[in-house]
Amino acid sequence: MDHKKLETLLHDMTLREKIGQVFQISGQLLAEDSAAMGPMQEMGVTQEDVLLAGTVLGVFGAEKICKIQKEYMEHHPHHIPLIFMLDVINGYRTVYPIPLAQGASFLPELSGKCAQMAAREAAAAGLHVTFSPMTDLVRDARWGRVMESTGEDVYLNGQFAKAMTGGYQGEDLAGEETLGACVKHFAGYGAPDAGRDYNTVQLTERTFREYYLPAYQAAVDAGVALVMTSFNTVNDIPATVNKKLMREILRDEMGFDGVLISDFGAIGETVAHGLSSDRADAARRALEAGVDIDMMSGVYPEKLEQLIRGGKVSEDLLDEAVMRILELKNKLGLFENPFKGADPEKEKTVILCEEHRALAREAAERSFVLLKNDGAFLPLKKGEKVALIGPYVSRKQLLGGWSFLGDAEDTVTVEEAARKLAPEWEFIFAKGCPVLDPGTKLVGFGSCEENEDEDQDAMWKAACDAAREADKVVLFLGEHFLQTGEATSRGILELPQIQQKLLREITAINPDTAVVLFNGRPLDLRVVNENAKAILEAWMPGTEGGPALIRTLTGASEPSGRLPMSFPYCVGQVPVHYDEFPTGRPYHAPDENRFLSKYLDIPNQPLYPFGYGMGYTTFSVSEVDLDREEMTRGESVTAKVTVRNTGDRPGTDVIQLYLHDVAASVVRPVKQMKGYQRITLEPGEETEVAFEIREEMLRFYTADGTWDSEPGVFEVMIGESSATESKKSFLLR
Ligand code: GLC
Repeated sequence: MDHKKLETLLHDMTLREKIGQVFQISGQLLAEDSAAMGPMQEMGVTQEDVLLAGTVLGVFGAEKICKIQKEYMEHHPHHIPLIFMLDVINGYRTVYPIPLAQGASFLPELSGKCAQMAAREAAAAGLHVTFSPMTDLVRDARWGRVMESTGEDVYLNGQFAKAMTGGYQGEDLAGEETLGACVKHFAGYGAPDAGRDYNTVQLTERTFREYYLPAYQAAVDAGVALVMTSFNTVNDIPATVNKKLMREILRDEMGFDGVLISDFGAIGETVAHGLSSDRADAARRALEAGVDIDMMSGVYPEKLEQLIRGGKVSEDLLDEAVMRILELKNKLGLFENPFKGADPEKEKTVILCEEHRALAREAAERSFVLLKNDGAFLPLKKGEKVALIGPYVSRKQLLGGWSFLGDAEDTVTVEEAARKLAPEWEFIFAKGCPVLDPGTKLVGFGSCEENEDEDQDAMWKAACDAAREADKVVLFLGEHFLQTGEATSRGILELPQIQQKLLREITAINPDTAVVLFNGRPLDLRVVNENAKAILEAWMPGTEGGPALIRTLTGASEPSGRLPMSFPYCVGQVPVHYDEFPTGRPYHAPDENRFLSKYLDIPNQPLYPFGYGMGYTTFSVSEVDLDREEMTRGESVTAKVTVRNTGDRPGTDVIQLYLHDVAASVVRPVKQMKGYQRITLEPGEETEVAFEIREEMLRFYTADGTWDSEPGVFEVMIGESSATESKKSFLLR
């Protein structure tokens, strides 16, 4: 539909119709069994509000959506189509690894393919928009939503935000296999005080702009169709009613001209924040801030009519919001085809097809991070009798907390994969213990019921017997999926006590034990590190997690993931991140000087740093070589290293470039990743890895708030993780 017709349509709509467009309802109000979403508000929603709503959250399935769309448009005075939106976060029905695991792959292009797959399945199921990518920068493992992010690094998050947006949206938003993407949560939601979800965020303007905004900018530059507001305050004003943030920064500075949707109930919650004096005030402030859609707080349908008729808020603001929504519907092609890609027959053929399963398996394999491998314990060797023990050996829930669209029954477990893919291997299987400590109660998009009636003693004994009988043991341990994701902040980052007890007992019986971890956040792994000879981080690997793990453990696939987020020594270090400032009293172990920035009782360094990971072979990396010692603004420096595979099998490494601005008008991080290259080498093979360092890579928010570089010395570090210290310097003139 051309823009003139949209303007005519807007002009012809009544006030109530326009107010309907800016309200998103839960599918529960339209369909009996759509996904229950979030904390349901006490909705003062009328039947008319439902029949005039512009968008729907939480309905999925081609037949159901087509039925709702058809009936809704017949009733609507101007027959305007609905937009169907949902959280397709790491897959629709074919579930691939959680976003934090995707970040570990350092393969944004692979995530883009996964997003494309998710869009293919979700669009066939009738959906139009997904509330993804979530690209909040995260440094605090106490915050359960780190699992939804791609990690702590500004550069890496931007790469993934761009790739995921492109994967969902493709070349044509009106396509039958594309979804509108919605980047979230704008902005700074990943930095809550004390790691407690929904808590206050306190960031300096510079930190906010330099670390937290760039990845959202990458999504906007990639053409993301929607932005979602965040629950937190920014400069002590809730983001959802923060006019400066939403109009001056998001729209004017960052150039976003799409639809801004609130998070679930967030407009109404500005009353609880103590900002809006009441719901009418909240409605006014949100509309003035440019929030186009009220997701489920109900203040727009409840209050906007009286505010506009009473002259308290301009109808022009409503028209502006409605026009952006109509334009989104137009870009999605819904006026021409309100059913878009919905196709019950296609649902049956594309969902969980082998091509999709294969992609999910590859994404899982690329996400695994080998953290420890003493004596080349892994990969396992055929002929060894191996006991696979732990609550995750035959567990189907490997999907993560935001994949309620996935069905755990579709998952191929570790045990199923071992029996199917490696029948000639000698495996013994034993659960050992439940995931959770007795009496732990969790709530979320699914049940946390464990098989309470299992004979715990018999399980335990069988595990110990298996460990005794085996040459080697692999323990499969981890968090419960309801311990990570939204509203799952934790103050203690250890594995459940019952699992730690199993670990200690099994390794006492058989020290030749490796541990595979299933978790959605960095954990305190000291006990695991002390007792296991090898540690493989598997995150929440998705529908094909079992086969991906068996292929990796048997050497058919090599782990090449690198940590997208630091694993702290313990929770006392948190928030911990590699790109910290040096301070005036930097501590470099084992300096005995007392008056330095350090702890009395724990190290400063995380247990495992950002960018770290091993493979099944080893590499050497030469000193950094620079092709020049100084450059001017229009020039560049080429930094090189020579990398050699010094092991006896092919392998992949991720060579990372870090820069440090030694002295500037504001303090600068000890290092920042500015690029990386994955390289695969045969045994004995070596290659040169070169990075071009351009002036724009040296820019930051200077003391006077401009985005610029400053002349001075820059250190260049190139290595296999953020812990690399091999450096050379050049001068920017
Ligand atoms: C939730 C989350 C948000 C999600 C939305 C809709 O509260 O904060 O990430 O997209 O509601 O489910």
